Amino acid sequence: MDFELLKKQKTEEINAFLTAFLPEESGKEAVLCEAMKYSVAVGGKRLRPMILLEAYTMFGGTDAAAQPFAAALEMIHTYSLVHDDLPAMDNDMYRRGQLTTHAKYGEALGVLAGDGLLNYAFEVMSDAVCEQGGNGAKAMRILAKAAGVRGMIAGQTVDLEWTGKPQTRELLDYINERKTSALLCSALMAGAALAGATDAELSVLKQVGNYVGLAFQIKDDILDVIGDESKLGKPLHSDEKNEKSTYVTLIGIDGAQETVREFSDKAVELLDTLPYRNPFLKELLLSLVTREY
Ligand code: IPE
Ligand code: IPE
Ligand code: MG
Ligand code: MG
Ligand code: MG
Repeated sequence: MDFELLKKQKTEEINAFLTAFLPEESGKEAVLCEAMKYSVAVGGKRLRPMILLEAYTMFGGTDAAAQPFAAALEMIHTYSLVHDDLPAMDNDMYRRGQLTTHAKYGEALGVLAGDGLLNYAFEVMSDAVCEQGGNGAKAMRILAKAAGVRGMIAGQTVDLEWTGKPQTRELLDYINERKTSALLCSALMAGAALAGATDAELSVLKQVGNYVGLAFQIKDDILDVIGDESKLGKPLHSDEKNEKSTYVTLIGIDGAQETVREFSDKAVELLDTLPYRNPFLKELLLSLVTREY
């Protein structure tokens, strides 16, 4: 398996259908659709849709039925970034190698483009549920809960509430499990659910995603300190600027990197307990430990 080549091909496939799912830039609100498209099309690893599609094939899915859900998940993730970058939150000017949405279109359109992406994700998914039937409603419920008030939005809220205050490892995990693990769990779970995975299998995937997300956010916090800005596509030292406690401030770079490895190993160990195999997915999850962007 040429992992890097496969990943590149899969990313291109995702980019193609993702763009096709976005609303056309028409009507007097064309600028809204333009700002939404800008936020999505400007770049990004497409990790969440890729994981969703890989979980779908791992559990026996063979058709394009998972695409609207994968596209919707990337829209939700992108909206979370657009809002995360707003002056009221992390106040960052670069994302995915370009100006952030609010820096390019103004703050109001930053808010609206985020709203638009979140809502459009549900328009796309509910269309799929009505047209395809099958397990779509279950997948939509998984994604809705993960993005919602006990999921990603909760994590962002507690992250903001604790800004500038010393944190324990327990509290950091609480934040990271919500702001980052929730969407990664939902990628695995929604993909598998679409292919008919059982509730017991979904519960294993939830634990896998939880560890993947914890590792992913700690790595993000490490890269915020020692990453290469030109590779990352976003500014370094955002956390320091915003007085965020992270694993790096708590236990240092080496300790944090060690923890990334531990969480990642646990994730893959659990994945291996399932009766199905997807070597590409396994490699993808392992590659997150050493990622540079
Ligand atoms: C960034 O996510 C936000 C975090 C949860 C740390 P990604 O690192 O997946 O961002 P993109 O999608 O590649 O831009
Ligand atoms: C944000 O975490 C996670 C989200 C849910 C958007 P960060 O604030 O660390 O993400 P980056 O570093 O801006 O991508
Ligand atoms: Mg943030
Ligand atoms: Mg941020
Ligand atoms: Mg960060």
